[in-house]
Amino acid sequence: MVVTRLRAAGCVFAEDEARLLFSAARTPGDLAAMVDRRAAGQPLEHVLGWAEFCGLRIAVDPGVFVPRRRTEFLVRQAASIARQAAAPVGQAPARPRACVVDLCCGSGAIGAALAAVLGRVDLHAVDIDPAAVRCARRNVAASGGRVYEGDLYRPLPAALRGHVDILVANAPYVPAEAIGLLPPESRIHEPRAAVDGGADGLDVLRRVTAAAPLWLAPGGHLLVETGERQAPQAVEAVACSGLLPQVASSSDLNATVVIGTRPAGVGLRSPARQEGVLGTSGRRS
Ligand SMILES: C[S@@+](CC[C@H](N)C(=O)[O-])C[C@H]1O[C@@H](n2cnc3c(N)ncnc32)[C@H](O)[C@@H]1O
Repeated sequence: MVVTRLRAAGCVFAEDEARLLFSAARTPGDLAAMVDRRAAGQPLEHVLGWAEFCGLRIAVDPGVFVPRRRTEFLVRQAASIARQAAAPVGQAPARPRACVVDLCCGSGAIGAALAAVLGRVDLHAVDIDPAAVRCARRNVAASGGRVYEGDLYRPLPAALRGHVDILVANAPYVPAEAIGLLPPESRIHEPRAAVDGGADGLDVLRRVTAAAPLWLAPGGHLLVETGERQAPQAVEAVACSGLLPQVASSSDLNATVVIGTRPAGVGLRSPARQEGVLGTSGRRS
């Protein structure tokens, strides 16, 4: 009966979803309420209270962006870079504990997954949305990560400037005019600020990129997720900030990640300008 109801509501994987709802419900009343919410169009993850991401169960409250499978690619890229940086071929590990910052962290999925694969990390995560911050605090608690509420770099401790080894950001990057084309699960149940990246989708990403050199350690890396078609502009933004750009993509996951590396042993380009960028509050996307 549950399967029939879910299928009628348009759930393509009705059997799988029904299994998950059965295992999550504590009572028949619970199950009925969950099926109602799902049939009304709420994302399965909001109904269950968690999403699977990189093999972890990430708590996701209603109103918080549901981590996407494609973002696992960003985690894999970041983990692989962090491992190489920790132990360059033929050398002893450079640092015992990488400093990782997850900007626009949402549920904290990326930071939590990186902490799980890398082991000991000094993890700092930021989101502007209090609901996301509450959720992220639960998800990064196991790794001792700290979560701050505010606009991009603004709430981070100043002591991190110049010391971040891995800076990840899955910032909002949907062009404003494409928001209406998103599936209703996202359009209705995820906050607009979580997806809307402004006219070309890159407003937040440009702000992330512009200030990144100030926070990265020499040789540190910025990794941002973008759409495939946005990658050239994102690369340009990374290059303009003084970082060395690279693009990685996965056709399996339909994922694109732009990577910017702060050259080791090179001073910051026009620090005054970087300060200016940091001081800009920008739009609340
Ligand atoms: C696309 S969601 C990604 C969430 C998470 N990184 C993930 O991959 O699941 C973007 C997140 O950025 C946050 N955000 C948007 N603008 C922000 C800003 N100026 N400063 C901090 N966070 C911001 C939103 O609240 C939302 O949680």
